Amino acid sequence: MATEQQSSSATAEGGVATGSETLTVTDNRTGKTYELPINEGTIRGLDLRQIKVDESEFGMLAYDPAFTNTASCRSAITFIDGEAGILEHRGYSIEQLCERSTFLEVAYLLIFGELPTKQQLERWTFDITHHTFVHEDVKHFFDGFRYDAHPMGILLAGVGALSTFYPDAKHIDDEEERYMAAVRLIAKMPTLAAFSYRHNMGLPYVYPDNDLGFSENFLSMLFKKTEMKYEPDPRLARALDVLFILHADHEQNCSTNAVRGVGSSGVDPYSAVAAGVAALYGPLHGGANEAVLRMLRRIESPENIPDFLEGVKSREEKLMGFGHRVYKNYDPRARIIQQHMDEVFEATEYNPLVEIARELEKRALDDDYFTSRKLYPNVDFYSGIIYEALEIPTNMFTVIFAIPRTSGWVAQWMEMLDDPDTKIARPRQVYTGERDRDYVPIEQR
Ligand code: CMC
Repeated sequence: MATEQQSSSATAEGGVATGSETLTVTDNRTGKTYELPINEGTIRGLDLRQIKVDESEFGMLAYDPAFTNTASCRSAITFIDGEAGILEHRGYSIEQLCERSTFLEVAYLLIFGELPTKQQLERWTFDITHHTFVHEDVKHFFDGFRYDAHPMGILLAGVGALSTFYPDAKHIDDEEERYMAAVRLIAKMPTLAAFSYRHNMGLPYVYPDNDLGFSENFLSMLFKKTEMKYEPDPRLARALDVLFILHADHEQNCSTNAVRGVGSSGVDPYSAVAAGVAALYGPLHGGANEAVLRMLRRIESPENIPDFLEGVKSREEKLMGFGHRVYKNYDPRARIIQQHMDEVFEATEYNPLVEIARELEKRALDDDYFTSRKLYPNVDFYSGIIYEALEIPTNMFTVIFAIPRTSGWVAQWMEMLDDPDTKIARPRQVYTGERDRDYVPIEQR
């Protein structure tokens, strides 16, 4: 059964029931027995509706706030086995993709389901590279934000505004429009992100440079000053590209669920992706790496780690960057980031927080408190340290997360549109309020 397997993605493998298997449910209120079909390790929520005490009743619902045990869709994009610490995109392990691929190739893989041929990758790269510019009016629109506006708020508004520049994107059944929306979203997200940063810093906007690769161009738009051409250190551009691959998709997380939910209304993809950006803005989703940096600074030096861990164990603090709702093992993304840290520090100023982080990890993994609770480093434990080494300010961390995740949002949005099971997302509720009250005039209240 999927519940025994405890992975987040239920598949037909690993002992999951298939075909004609059923679940027998006895309603002890009535003594009636129901046979519910099991498919791919799941029962249909709607099959519960037949369970009722008398015919006038609505029927049974599943109560599952936060969808912790509800599959909201069938998906062939990303597989996670949280117990084993496995993450795969379209069947390819995240380790292989980070070692051998590039972010743009992974974006193609997520969206189209297969690794591109040489020609397909060339066309894809050409299309993305040639859609990185935004309309000049976007710049004017950004100028309207307060000088200290948070770049994520600016990005959110900017992505939503793109729908007004590309009104034909609302023809979501038109394949060509869908393709163009995918290209524009992935291509323009770094430009909007960099413009939001430059606005926040009071610096002039830097236009995209078509001679540069995806990550290099982003670094150029962030950091170019007076030089004629910005040439980022290839080690840093590669590290950023790997971070982009690591964050490209993570199946039905909060922001992806928001994109699918909003997209299910039939709205254009820019508006649906704006919902994803809004969800990512929340500290429970995109903001934990910033909290890790604050924690490491507070610890200050490796000698203070034992005291800090005692504080965590007595529940005065949380070990930020540890633990995950899905991974009950080392988050594979954290391991990959670790492997790239030395490379980054060869090219940048050494960040002493690394030593604290590594010692903290070592001690926590030697401690039964953490191992017995299956608390291991997650992707956020080291990502903030790398962003900081790249001189990216903390208020840009979530903005940067949105750049690669756009490819996942687009892939999931397209998959949702093609799924014959898709309907407008509309959950039920358990109503807990008053009923049948008579209106009371204001003077009598
Ligand atoms: N530090 C100390 N104790 C912890 C931590 C932690 N970071 N995380 C969980 N625990 C303890 C928790 O107190 C509980 O102990 P007990 O059973 O004795 O009460 C046990 O471990 C199980 O925790 P939980 O709260 O039931 O786990 P959850 O699945 O609800 O929470 C989490 C997952 C990520 C919210 C949590 O581990 C956490 O707050 N971690 C720190 C914040 C963080 O790093 N967030 C980034 C997550 S990765 C983001 C991404 O994938 O995009």
